[in-house]
Amino acid sequence: MSESLDLAAFPADFTWGTATSAYQIEGAVCEDGRAPSIWDTFSHTPGKVDNDDHGDVACDHYHRWPEDIGLMKRLGTDAYRMSIAWPRVMPTGDGPVNAAGLDFYDRLVDALLDAGITPNVTLYHWDLPQALQDRGGWTVRDTAEHLADYASAVAGRLGDRVTRWATLNEPLCSGWIGHLEGRMAPGLTDLTAAVHASYHLLLAHGLATRAVRAAAPGAQVGLVTNHSTVEAASTRPEDIAAATRMDGHTNRWWLDPVHGRGFPADMRELYGVDLPERPGDLDTIAVPLDWHGLNYYFPATVTDDPHGPVPYAREVRLPDVPRTGMDWQIDAGGLEALLLRLTDDYGVRKLYVTENGSAFPDSVSPDGTVHDPDRARYLEQHVSACARAVRKGVPLAGYYAWSLLDNFEWAYGYDKRFGLVHVDYATQTRTLKTSGLRYAEIIRAHRGSH
Ligand code: NOJ
Repeated sequence: MSESLDLAAFPADFTWGTATSAYQIEGAVCEDGRAPSIWDTFSHTPGKVDNDDHGDVACDHYHRWPEDIGLMKRLGTDAYRMSIAWPRVMPTGDGPVNAAGLDFYDRLVDALLDAGITPNVTLYHWDLPQALQDRGGWTVRDTAEHLADYASAVAGRLGDRVTRWATLNEPLCSGWIGHLEGRMAPGLTDLTAAVHASYHLLLAHGLATRAVRAAAPGAQVGLVTNHSTVEAASTRPEDIAAATRMDGHTNRWWLDPVHGRGFPADMRELYGVDLPERPGDLDTIAVPLDWHGLNYYFPATVTDDPHGPVPYAREVRLPDVPRTGMDWQIDAGGLEALLLRLTDDYGVRKLYVTENGSAFPDSVSPDGTVHDPDRARYLEQHVSACARAVRKGVPLAGYYAWSLLDNFEWAYGYDKRFGLVHVDYATQTRTLKTSGLRYAEIIRAHRGSH
C-alpha cells in the first residue's frame, strides 16, 4: 500500500507525531491542586455537551501516561503534541504556581524524551481557569497578560528540555465558537465579546511568545491555527462576496495580524466593533515566529445569508461528497491549498500540520481488533496532500495525526472517535486501530526511503 504514497518527498528529518490536549484526555480534574477550567463548568452545565459528557475521567491519561507513551512507541512516532492545563499549573489563573501541577508535566516530558519522542507543548488548548473567566476571561486584556505569566512559569520549568512550543491552539474556536456561536466554553453569543476575545487571544499569543523566549532561550515558538479553504456555492456575485467574508472570518482575521498585515479592513468594517487596541499591540501580535502550525479538517462552500449571523455566509451541504462521522466533507486538496497559501501568500518559512484526522464510529470486533479503513484512507489522502505540497516547495517539517487516542470531543462528548487508538471508556482499555497500524507502516516506510 505504501508504494502509492510519495514518501520520498518528505525530508529525512520529517517529524511524524500524534496530538492530544489536556482536558480531552487527562481526567483527574480534582487532583494535585487542579482547579476548574471553563470546560469543567461548560460540560457540567446540562445540555451543553452531547450526553452531558464531561472530562472528569476522560482517558485517565493523568494516571495512564506510561501506557500511552508505550502506544506512541508502537506507532513509531518521534514527536508528541500535547497541551498543558493552565488550571493545574496556576489554579486561579494568575496566582502562585502549583508545583504539583507542574511536576506532572515534568515527569511526562522526561518519560517522552527517554522514549525518544520530542514533546511539542501547547500552552493554551481552551481550558481557561474558571477564576479568570469570572473576571471577564478573554474579553479583558488582563487575561492576555496572565497567559504570558503562566507561559513564563511553564517554560522556566520545562524549557531546559522542551524546545518546541505553541502558544495557542485554534484561537478561532476559542474566539468565535466560544463567544459568538456559544457552542464551546464559555458559551457566549455576543459579537463584541467575540471580537474582543479574538483580539486578546492574539495579543496573548504575542506576549506569551516573548515570555517563552525570555524564560527558555533557544525555544522554537509557534502558533497553531485552524483553517478551511472557502469556495462560493455559485458564481452569483452575492455568493462570491459571501465567500470573501467567510474567508476573512475563518482565515484572514487570524493570519493577517499574525503575519504583520494588521486586522483586515473589510472584516473590521463588517464586525463594526472597536478593537481594544493600544499602541504597540500590532507589533506584539506580529512577533516573528519560528514556525506556524496548521490544523486542517475540512473545506467550506458558502452561500450569501444576509439575515444570518456574522459573517452573513452560510455553509452549503454539498450532495454526493465523502464525509466523516462529524459530517465534515473530506477534501485533502484543501490541506495542500492551505499549505501553499501559508507559504506563498504569508511567507511562512517553517510549517507543521499540527492536527489532521477524522472521526468515524468504530467498535472492537470479537477478535479484538478495530478495523477502521475510512480513517486509514483519510490519513493516506492527507499525507499524500502533504507530499504534493512539499514537492511544490512548502517547507513542511512535520505532521501530527489527531489524535493518539479517542477522547473527549468537546461539545460532541465521547461519541465522536478521532483516535488511532480505540479507548473503551468503561475499562480504559486501549486498542490500536487498523489506521494506527497503517500510520506505523507509513512512518517505517518513510524512514526506509532515506
Ligand atoms: C481541533 C481541536 O484542536 C481539537 O481539540 C479537536 O478535538 C479536533 N479539532 C477535532 O475536532
